[in-house]
Amino acid sequence: MSALTTTTGLSLRNVGLQFGDGDSTVTALDDVNLEVAPGELVAIVGPSGAGKSSLLAVAGGLIHPTTGTVVLRDVDLTATPRRQLAEIRRNQIGFVFQSSNLLPALTALDQLRLMSTITGRPGRDPHELLESVGMTHRADKRPGQLSGGERQRVGIARALATEPAVLLVDEPTAALDRARSHDVVQLLADETHSAGVATIMVTHDHDVLVHCDRVLEMIDGRLSPLSE
Ligand SMILES: Nc1ncnc2c1ncn2[C@@H]1O[C@H](COP(=O)(O)OP(=O)(O)O)[C@@H](O)[C@H]1O
Ligand SMILES: [Mg+2]
Repeated sequence: MSALTTTTGLSLRNVGLQFGDGDSTVTALDDVNLEVAPGELVAIVGPSGAGKSSLLAVAGGLIHPTTGTVVLRDVDLTATPRRQLAEIRRNQIGFVFQSSNLLPALTALDQLRLMSTITGRPGRDPHELLESVGMTHRADKRPGQLSGGERQRVGIARALATEPAVLLVDEPTAALDRARSHDVVQLLADETHSAGVATIMVTHDHDVLVHCDRVLEMIDGRLSPLSE
């Protein structure tokens, strides 16, 4: 058996990422090692430009790292052909961004229904999922009729609709007030634990770290336990 058959969650090993070439090279990730278990919420904090979004892009198979491997449920994403990678992203990886990126014309419920059409699999029941993110009473509202916090709830639900193995979340509370931020990250923690998803959340918001299972800090592309 190869060493790659030992993980059930997400594993980044000796990951390096450089942009540009020659004199203008930027090292976005520098020998990053990270294991996220199913059902674990890992937070990553760090200054702007530290490489946090790059880490999510690499973890989600959106960009190939310059060096190292990214292993998701025993599949090495860095050795996976582009078309298969798109399928893995669609079926096994959920993304949540600062702005929820919902489709303006669709109701909350239809945002979730759409996901099974995209993947061709039933996934989670849209009504049940709306219920678990506390949005049943807003099921027939479009994004323009929802508050920022409500949009993030629907965004999280949409990311979970396909029953992904991994959830990658970039600054989910950046546009929310303090109370709403706690609600949204508490929800992320609850869903991570109950659905058994391996979740990485990037945040600037130290307030919400209390909801996370583990906190890491990224500085100049290097990842380490948070020193505080
Ligand atoms: N597509 C890109 N091309 C060139 N440099 C990039 C690109 N994306 C990010 N970078 C650089 O990589 C570094 C890390 O960026 P990023 O991952 O966005 O940091 P963070 O999310 O922590 O703010 C920064 O120096 C940024 O300018
Ligand atoms: Mg970023």
